[in-house]
Amino acid sequence: MKILILASGGDSQGMNRVIYNLYKHYKTKVYGCECGFAGLIEGNILPLKHFKPAKHKNNSGVCIKSSRCPEFNTEAGFAKALKNAKNYDYIVILGGNGSKKGAKELEKNGIKVVFVPATIDNDIDNSQYSLGFDSAVNACCYSINNIMPSVNSFKNRVCVFVIMGNSCSKIAENVSDKVNADYLIKSEDDIDYKKIVNTIEKNISKQKNTVIILKEKLLKSEDFVQKLQAKVKNVFLQYFEIGYLQRGSKPTKFEILQANKISEKIFKSIKSQNSHYIYFQKDKWKF
Ligand code: F6P
Repeated sequence: MKILILASGGDSQGMNRVIYNLYKHYKTKVYGCECGFAGLIEGNILPLKHFKPAKHKNNSGVCIKSSRCPEFNTEAGFAKALKNAKNYDYIVILGGNGSKKGAKELEKNGIKVVFVPATIDNDIDNSQYSLGFDSAVNACCYSINNIMPSVNSFKNRVCVFVIMGNSCSKIAENVSDKVNADYLIKSEDDIDYKKIVNTIEKNISKQKNTVIILKEKLLKSEDFVQKLQAKVKNVFLQYFEIGYLQRGSKPTKFEILQANKISEKIFKSIKSQNSHYIYFQKDKWKF
């Protein structure tokens, strides 16, 4: 039996642990596809050992490397990928909704796949959890909780924290809740300058600084801060993009546990000799 593993889209914490678990279980039977679907098109495939999975098992990132690959969606690109995919009995695909779509296309064309939900955004259809979310939330809270004591050494400050999450607001919502933020902007409707100024002024009257959580991709951080600054006098505004810290920070213990549970499901999927899409519902991993 020959198994191939690939990661596509944004890397997420826990991917490396799944890769290591597969290596431990299948040893020389498992191969790594470098740079996701791009590697499948080009045939950049090596025995998994080459990517040093044991060294990376507790690290963030993804040792086999990922990519975003528009070519996979073209007829010619897909045909090349399919030709290479046919050399394997199973392909394990780690990623988000785009990667799931890719898995389905391969499956439609006779390839046996196992899809693993892995994206910090936690926005995968039909799954209440995806690998990386807990670590990303944790990384945001850690950053904010380590920035604010310094900011709070000064009066009349407003801090805007820009949070990754693509079009999904789950990370921003969770972080806002956990750090007890003063204002959360998770959609266009929340960009209400009157309300925001009101919050800031109320805080100033209580000698309190203001924490605003801004979900990425809603508006340009600089523009928002400039516009807000023009509306509040004698207040110093700052913004911090948490960005890649969310993906690059260490996986939490919870993440490693989920990656281990998912790996068990992958082994079962492969044993069953059918394609499976792993998902999380009602506190359980299923397929
Ligand atoms: O999908 C994961 C994610 O980290 C999103 O939260 C973010 O919008 C995007 O990827 C960033 O993409 P890139 O790695 O291409 O900058």
